[in-house]
Amino acid sequence: MSSKIADIGLAKQGQMSYTWARTHMTILEKIKMSNESKKPLSDYKLGFCLHITKETSVLIIAAKMLGADIAICSANPLSTQNDIAAFLSSEGIKVFAWRGQSERQYRECIESVLQFQPDILTDDGGDLHTAAHKSKTRFYGGTEETTTGVKRLEILQSRKRLKYPVIAVNNAYTKHLFDNRYGTGQSTIDGILRTTGLFLSGKQVIVCGYGWVGKGVSVRARGMGAIVTITEVDPIKALEAHMDGFNVQQLSDVSYIGDIFITCTGHCRIIRKEHLKKMKDGAMLANAGHFDVEIDVGYLYSQDKFPILVRPNVECFKCHDKKLYLLSKGRVINLVGAEGHPPEVMALSFANQLLSILFLSKNYRSLTNKVYNVPHEIDLKVARYAIEAENLRIDDS
Ligand SMILES: NC(=O)c1ccc[n+]([C@@H]2O[C@H](COP(=O)([O-])OP(=O)(O)OC[C@H]3O[C@@H](n4cnc5c(N)ncnc54)[C@H](O)[C@@H]3O)[C@@H](O)[C@H]2O)c1
Repeated sequence: MSSKIADIGLAKQGQMSYTWARTHMTILEKIKMSNESKKPLSDYKLGFCLHITKETSVLIIAAKMLGADIAICSANPLSTQNDIAAFLSSEGIKVFAWRGQSERQYRECIESVLQFQPDILTDDGGDLHTAAHKSKTRFYGGTEETTTGVKRLEILQSRKRLKYPVIAVNNAYTKHLFDNRYGTGQSTIDGILRTTGLFLSGKQVIVCGYGWVGKGVSVRARGMGAIVTITEVDPIKALEAHMDGFNVQQLSDVSYIGDIFITCTGHCRIIRKEHLKKMKDGAMLANAGHFDVEIDVGYLYSQDKFPILVRPNVECFKCHDKKLYLLSKGRVINLVGAEGHPPEVMALSFANQLLSILFLSKNYRSLTNKVYNVPHEIDLKVARYAIEAENLRIDDS
C-alpha cells in the first residue's frame, strides 16, 4: 500500500517539528529506550486513527522503533499537519491523511487503514473502531484516546456487540486529568486567539459543560481576564463550577450576553436555533468537543448559504439581522485553529497509549471483549516518569 498525503516535499519541515516535539516528550523516549532492544511489537501491525500532529509523530516513530508495521489516518478531516504526514510517510509509515478532506475522503482513509489489516487499532473518537465493527476482519484489540470514543465503545459493549478488547486510555488519571483539562484548556484558548486575533480580557465567555475539558477551558479563560459563565445539565458539576467561583446559568438566559461561546460537552445540539436567535451582534462560536455536532451549524447555513471567510477559520454568517462568527467550522478549535495539545501533556497521553498497546500485545489472548481501564500500574508508571521528567521529588511511603 502506498501513502496518500498532500506533499512529500514537506517531509524535512515535518522532521524538524517531530524533533522539536520529541525533545519535550522524554517520557515516551524512555519507554521506547527501555523496550527497543527486544523489539516487542515486531510481530504486530498497528492501525492508528489520530490527529496527525508533531506529538503524534513521536508516538508513531516510537512504536515503529519497537518493531511495529504501521498505517495511520487522521481523526478529523481538518486537523492533519501536512508536514508531519509527509515526514511519517518518508519514514516508511503508510499515511492516509491530508488537511481539508471531504467527509467521503475522511471515511475512505479510515477504510485504507482497515485494508492494511492491523492487529491492534488505536483510535481517537471511535470512527476507526466503528468502521472496524462493520468489517469481517478479526482484530486482537484496540485502545481509545478520548471521552466520546470511550462512550461509543461502552454502548457497543452494553449491546454485547464489542468484537475485541479495548483499553480506554482516556480513563487513565494521567490522561484525562492533564490532557482533557490542561491540554485542551491551553490549546482551546490558543485556537481562539490564533483564529480571531482578539483580546480575551473583559470578554463574556460562556463555557457549555464543566467536565474535564470545560474545567480546563474555563480556568484558562478566566486566567486571561475573561468573565466566565458555565452552563451544565449535571447538578454536581454545576455546583462544582459555582464553588470554583464561576457564574452558573441556563444557556437560554446568557445567550444574549456572550461574546464567545465554547462548547465542551461531547453531546449533540448544545447551541441551537433558540440560542442563536438571542445572541448579540458579533458573537463568536467555538467548539472544543470531539465532533462538530455541538453547535447547530446547519441552522446557521439555513440563514446564510454563503458565509464570508473574514479570516482563516473565521466565517461570518448573517443571521437575524446580525453577524455571528463561527470559528473552525464548529470543529475542534484547538486542532483546526491551532496545533492541538502541547508536547509535554501529549507525552502523558501517548505514554499511556504505547504502554497499553504493549500490554494488549502481551495479554490480548486472556482478555474478553470488554472496555478495560488502563491497568493502574501503567497509570502510576506514567506519573512516575512524568515526575522525573518535571524534575520533581516525592517522598517514599
Ligand atoms: N479538543 C480536544 O483536544 C479534546 C480533548 C479531550 C477531550 N475532548 C472531547 O471533549 C468532549 C468533553 O470531554 P470531557 O472529558 O470533558 O467529558 P466529560 O464527560 O468530563 O464532560 C462533559 C460535560 O458536559 C456536560 N453536558 C452534557 N450535556 C450538556 C448540555 N446540554 N449543556 C451543558 N453541559 C452539558 C456533562 O454534564 C459533563 O459535565 C468530548 O467530546 C471529548 O471527546 C476534546
